[in-house]
Amino acid sequence: MTNQFKTIILCGLFLLAVGAFSASAETDIFSQKVEPLTTLDCARCHEQVFTDLRDRGGAHKMVCRDCHEQFHTFKRDLSWEQRVPACASCHGEPHGSEADMIDCLDCHSNAHAPVDSLNLELLEPLCARCHAEPTQQMQQPSAHSELGCNECHQQQHGSLPKCTECHEEPHSPFESNAGCMQCHPVHNVSIMLYSETIPNNACAGCHSQPAQQLKQGHLAHALLNCTFCHADEHGNTPSCQDCHDTPHSPEMLQDFAGCNDCHGNPHDLLPGA
Ligand code: HEC
Ligand code: HEC
Ligand code: HEC
Ligand code: HEC
Ligand code: HEC
Ligand code: HEC
Ligand code: HEC
Ligand code: HEC
Ligand code: HEC
Ligand code: HEC
Ligand code: HEC
Ligand code: HEC
Repeated sequence: MTNQFKTIILCGLFLLAVGAFSASAETDIFSQKVEPLTTLDCARCHEQVFTDLRDRGGAHKMVCRDCHEQFHTFKRDLSWEQRVPACASCHGEPHGSEADMIDCLDCHSNAHAPVDSLNLELLEPLCARCHAEPTQQMQQPSAHSELGCNECHQQQHGSLPKCTECHEEPHSPFESNAGCMQCHPVHNVSIMLYSETIPNNACAGCHSQPAQQLKQGHLAHALLNCTFCHADEHGNTPSCQDCHDTPHSPEMLQDFAGCNDCHGNPHDLLPGA
């Protein structure tokens, strides 16, 4: 036999075998095991659910059957609640059992994107329930207290605005919120707070003269923070004696109006005084 002829015969036998095999698969269909649908199989029909889980599902990005143990139970008398899993079956009532906290889907409007789909409008009257402290601060009268929470926390629950979105040209060298909030607690801007560690250039924007003088000074005060002397609250001014007590005899001082007569200026002490 030529090689060519052998190949033709082998191919023929192969085709016969394949035919016989598929014929037996056809007849034995009910003896085979039905494989459960995979998440990808579900996705072929429920594509939107799949993409929601994939792109915005957060911690719910799990396989379908973890939650849907049963589905497609198309019996007419079943209610929707009987067809789909209940949030509470896995979570209980995490925010308490008061009436406005138990209709999970009111706020978590998409079960397949439970955090991303939080409905801000419905949330607005309820911020206080979970965020008591900022709410209390906002109730103090201040330039911010007329603003609703969502005017700053826009778009999504938990989003944080930048001060500079509304205050375009701030007076401070700091551009970050953390910088601004060293002096302005955002939920009550009527008070001004600053810590001892705030750097001198934070004050320099408005008090250029003392800052300049202090920087150029050669004596011990030049090493101090503004807030070491002007502590706690904006505008506080110490007296020399707060720190130095009485370094000189009363006789020596009696003809002078004050310490600055000889020492110049606290921001720029005169050498040799
Ligand atoms: C061949 C297409 C197809 C596949 C595959 C499919 N579904 Fe469905 N599914 C449907 C249709 C059609 C409905 C009814 C839609 C309607 O009523 O709007 C439905 C409804 C549902 C519902 C609504 C509640 C219910 O049970 O009636 C759930 C939940 C569901 N499917 C889950 C799944 C899961 C989980 C998978 C994969 C394990 C899956 N489906 C695979 C077509 C499919
Ligand atoms: C973390 C649990 C969870 C996972 C994972 C999950 N589901 Fe759901 N699904 C739910 C809940 C809860 C509901 C009921 C929402 C409601 O009552 O409107 C639901 C509703 C549905 C519905 C009907 C309402 C709708 O949004 O269309 C379909 C269809 C569905 N799921 C399909 C799927 C498919 C397909 C997958 C996997 C790709 C999946 N689910 C994964 C919890 C889950
Ligand atoms: C079958 C169980 C199951 C069901 C049903 C279920 N969840 Fe979850 N959910 C989980 C698991 C597991 C996690 C991740 C671990 C955790 O945070 O407990 C989770 C996490 C969450 C989170 C945090 C998500 C994140 O990204 O941080 C929210 C919010 C949530 N679920 C809301 C819901 C809501 C609302 C429903 C009903 C529409 C629901 N869940 C139904 C199992 C479930
Ligand atoms: C009034 C609106 C609202 C209602 C109603 C609501 N939630 Fe929430 N839920 C939220 C908000 C807002 C968060 C915070 C989300 C975040 O972490 O950014 C949250 C967080 C969660 C979390 C994750 C963090 C945690 O506290 O464990 C789970 C789980 C959750 N909710 C489940 C539920 C379930 C289950 C129900 C119904 C019994 C429900 N929620 C009802 C608004 C709501
Ligand atoms: C059901 C409870 C609940 C409600 C209602 C709620 N929140 Fe939240 N919120 C949370 C939880 C839980 C977190 C996550 C805390 C964390 O991650 O430390 C959070 C986080 C935040 C954060 C981000 C905090 C950070 O440091 O990143 C902001 C801002 C916020 N919520 C504002 C709001 C506003 C504004 C409202 C009303 C429109 C609101 N929340 C309603 C529970 C809630
Ligand atoms: C003038 C704008 C503005 C308003 C109005 C506002 N916030 Fe804020 N909020 C901010 C800024 C800015 C931050 C901090 C951002 C950062 O740390 O970078 C913040 C932080 C938060 C945080 C997280 C840190 C914390 O203090 O716990 C929560 C929660 C919060 N706000 C809730 C609320 C609530 C509730 C309301 C309404 C009662 C509200 N905010 C009103 C601007 C605002
Ligand atoms: C959504 C816009 C918005 C954001 C974000 C915002 N503010 Fe304001 N702020 C206002 C409005 C409106 C006023 C009142 C009118 C004015 O003075 O421009 C105001 C006023 C102020 C005042 C003046 C207080 C007074 O008593 O005169 C200070 C200080 C201030 N904001 C600081 C901040 C700081 C710091 C941040 C960031 C942590 C911030 N703001 C974020 C809108 C905003
Ligand atoms: C070192 C402390 C300090 C820092 C940091 C600071 N501020 Fe101020 N801010 C002040 C003081 C003090 C005043 C009051 C000035 C006055 O009475 O004229 C003020 C006033 C304001 C005012 C109202 C008056 C005006 O200028 O319109 C706004 C708005 C403001 N600051 C926003 C900001 C923002 C935004 C940031 C961050 C970019 C910031 N501040 C950083 C101390 C500070
Ligand atoms: C936004 C501009 C601004 C910033 C930033 C600022 N101040 Fe002032 N400061 C003022 C204004 C305006 C006054 C005068 C009006 C008043 O008394 O409130 C003042 C007053 C003072 C006074 C009182 C002066 C007197 O004559 O009694 C001291 C002390 C002072 N500031 C120190 C500081 C220090 C320290 C810092 C930095 C931590 C700082 N300031 C940041 C604007 C600012
Ligand atoms: C060693 C302590 C000390 C340090 C450090 C200091 N100051 Fe003063 N400052 C004083 C005293 C004391 C006065 C009271 C006025 C006087 O006795 O001349 C004063 C007065 C002021 C005044 C009001 C009078 C004026 O000169 O305008 C301002 C504003 C001021 N300081 C800002 C600052 C700033 C900004 C810094 C940092 C760059 C700073 N001070 C650092 C002690 C200090
Ligand atoms: C908040 C505290 C504080 C205040 C207020 C203060 N000083 Fe001082 N002063 C210091 C410190 C700290 C030093 C350096 C360490 C030391 O010598 O005690 C110093 C050092 C000095 C020195 C020595 C300088 C050198 O380099 O030898 C003189 C002089 C002086 N202070 C004068 C004054 C006068 C005058 C005033 C008031 C206008 C004043 N101080 C206010 C904290 C302060
Ligand atoms: C008549 C001028 C004069 C007056 C007024 C004066 N000082 Fe002095 N002071 C001096 C001289 C000169 C020295 C340098 C002495 C030396 O080096 O021993 C000095 C040194 C100091 C020192 C640093 C030396 C030390 O004691 O450690 C301090 C701090 C000081 N003075 C604080 C003050 C204070 C506070 C006042 C106001 C109550 C004041 N002085 C008023 C002239 C004066």
